[in-house]
Amino acid sequence: MLDQNYLLKLTEEYGTPLYVYDGDEVVRRYQDLYRFITWPKLRIHYAMKANYNPGILRLLEQAGAGIDAVSPGDVIMALQAGFDKERIIYTANNMTDAEVAQVRDLGVLMNIDSISRLSKFGRAYPGSKVCLRFNPDVCDGDNVHTMTGGDLTKFGLLMESVEEVKVIVDKYNLSVVGLHEHTGSGLQRTESVYQSMKNLMAIASRDNFPDLCFLDFGGGFKVPYCANENRVDYAAMGAEITRLFEAYCHDYGSELEMYFEPGKYIVAEAGHLLTTVNTLKENRGRRIAGCDSGFPQLIRPVLYDAYHQIVNLSNPNGNPAAYDVCGNICETGDRFAEQRELPEIREGDVLSIENAGAYCYSMGGVYNLRPMPAEVVICQGRVNSARRRLSTEELINMIIGETTCE
Ligand code: LLP
Repeated sequence: MLDQNYLLKLTEEYGTPLYVYDGDEVVRRYQDLYRFITWPKLRIHYAMKANYNPGILRLLEQAGAGIDAVSPGDVIMALQAGFDKERIIYTANNMTDAEVAQVRDLGVLMNIDSISRLSKFGRAYPGSKVCLRFNPDVCDGDNVHTMTGGDLTKFGLLMESVEEVKVIVDKYNLSVVGLHEHTGSGLQRTESVYQSMKNLMAIASRDNFPDLCFLDFGGGFKVPYCANENRVDYAAMGAEITRLFEAYCHDYGSELEMYFEPGKYIVAEAGHLLTTVNTLKENRGRRIAGCDSGFPQLIRPVLYDAYHQIVNLSNPNGNPAAYDVCGNICETGDRFAEQRELPEIREGDVLSIENAGAYCYSMGGVYNLRPMPAEVVICQGRVNSARRRLSTEELINMIIGETTCE
């Protein structure tokens, strides 16, 4: 945990809004997973969509992680951060032919999730290795938008399409080296993890897929966002995961690799968004604290109704009162929290929005033409890497300067 005074000190140097990440915590979380899941052939592919900060990518690369990539941009950035192409899996959705060619040329294994794409891939690249993504038929996640299994999802091949898949695989002499499933993000029940594994393992027989080297069970490991939320017993969960996989490998007849691809678990709790309150307002009894950040810079509360703890760093012992913590964007819904009990907020106070390491900066945008915040990664009490905020002029140049068509 980064010390609150240290966070405040960083705002003096880098200004606000500012994202701060605890790099040591990120690496610890990655390493934890190897303590929990003791299968000797475990590989963790970090879901970089959660946070593609180059400093964080470098730390995880040095720690030995692989990458779950979802766009050509992800792949190129991961390669630049030093990840070996063998340690990247490409799990994009609704890929174009051009994108498939680009990623294949970079030497990255393709994870295909539709009959249509599998046929096109086979036709274009007969004899290739491929991974196949199946819908695990389990519904779980921290809200409806982050559930990726079951009837309503656009993701994955259906379990009942195995025979159809095998015909295409044979026709183009493809080698299915891996099978994949991802159930959702912020899985609420450990049972869902086991059930999804069982459903995938049920089709992953040697008869169906004789060339398997790995099964990939996706991400979704949940972390607490509210103070009173329990932490999952990951040691117990890891033991059960290992037990299930061991039994499966025994039946399959060889010790396959087991992949997981978490994002949230590794980075969510390591991040803070620091923002300064610049305007206080009393709106007929409702206290409004107006900040120098806004929902394009941290969209989870607006998009998912997600709860993020807020800490008043500069007045931690103030008398508590309820505040609407609002941003600087021209929309009524631009709120980080509604009627949140916080120590008295004064103009100039710095707030820390917690659990801002996953899907916060990475889902950001420049709505209202406000540049995204600077980012700092801290390791062993020091700044390990920093990215400054674009100036407004640089942002405008990015938009009109070099990208206008003739
Ligand atoms: N693998 C696949 C195929 C995925 O689609 C995802 C997340 C992950 C792994 C990593 O899931 P995680 O371990 O981070 O839960 N923006 C949402 C989360 C969307 C996740 C999308 N896919 C949020 O802020 O809660």
